[in-house]
Amino acid sequence: MNTLSKEEIRAQLLEKNKGIGVYVYDTIDSTNDEAKRQWKESKKAPCLFVSDEQTGGRGRRGRSFYSPKGTGIYMSLLLQPTIGIEDAVHITTATAVIVARHIRAFTGADVGIKWVNDLYLSDKKVCGILTEAVMEPDMTGPPAVVVGIGINLSTEVFPEELAEIAGGLGVKEGTLSQNSLIARITNDLLAFAENMQDCSYMEDYRKMSIVLGREIRYNEGNVLIRARALDIDSEGGLMVELENGSVKVLKTGEITVRLAE
Ligand code: BTN
Repeated sequence: MNTLSKEEIRAQLLEKNKGIGVYVYDTIDSTNDEAKRQWKESKKAPCLFVSDEQTGGRGRRGRSFYSPKGTGIYMSLLLQPTIGIEDAVHITTATAVIVARHIRAFTGADVGIKWVNDLYLSDKKVCGILTEAVMEPDMTGPPAVVVGIGINLSTEVFPEELAEIAGGLGVKEGTLSQNSLIARITNDLLAFAENMQDCSYMEDYRKMSIVLGREIRYNEGNVLIRARALDIDSEGGLMVELENGSVKVLKTGEITVRLAE
C-alpha cells in the first residue's frame, strides 16, 4: 500500500469532483464522527474524510470496527442528498456494489455481498459499511448523510472476538494504491448521489449476493427461524421462503441473517 495523500486522492477525482473537501488524517477516533462534527460546524458537503487508523471506529448496531494503522481503508463521504432519509437504504446497497466492484478490480479478490451490506471473502467479512443521517433539532429539508466504509486490505491479525468472522483481502505491501481506490469509490458514490433513483446497481447486487438461493437463519425475538433467501426487493428487503412455504420480506436494519452451515 502507498501512503495516504490528499493531493493524490484529489488528482484522481473526476474534474467535476475536484472541488469537494478532502481531509486526510494519520489517526482519528472515527471518520464518520469527524464528518458529522464538520457538518455541524460548516454545513459543507460533499466532503471526504480518510484516516490511516481509527481509535474509535464504529460499526452498525453499536459495534466497534477494528481499524488498525496502515492495514486498511477507513473513509467517510459526507453527502447532502436532495431526497429523504427513507432512501438511505439505496445509498447503502449501492455503496456495497460500488465498493465490491472496485475491490474486485484492484485486488482480483472475488468478494461477495452479504445482505445488507457486508462484503465477504471466503466466509470472512473484509469490509463493512455504516450509513448515518446527521440529524439536527432545527432542521428543515433532508438531512446530510455520512457513508462510512471500512476495508481490511492487509489486516491479518484481529482481536480474539473477531478472529472467526473477520478477514483481510491479503493485499501485499506496495501492490495497491489506496489513494486510487479511495478516489474511484468516491467518484462512483458522488455519481450515484446525483441520481439516487437509479436502481441499475441492483442487478449487480443480486449477482454478487452470497445469500440468495441459500439457507439462512435469523432471530425473531428469541425464536430462531430457518428460511431460504429468494430475492432482494427494490427497497433492499430480503425476500425469504419460510419452512411452511410462505414468503416474507425481511426489512433492512431490523434483522441479522446468518448463512446456514
Ligand atoms: C459494520 O461493519 O457494521 C460497519 C463498519 C463501518 C466502518 C467504517 S470505517 C470508516 C467509517 N468510520 C467509522 O467509524 N465507521 C465507518
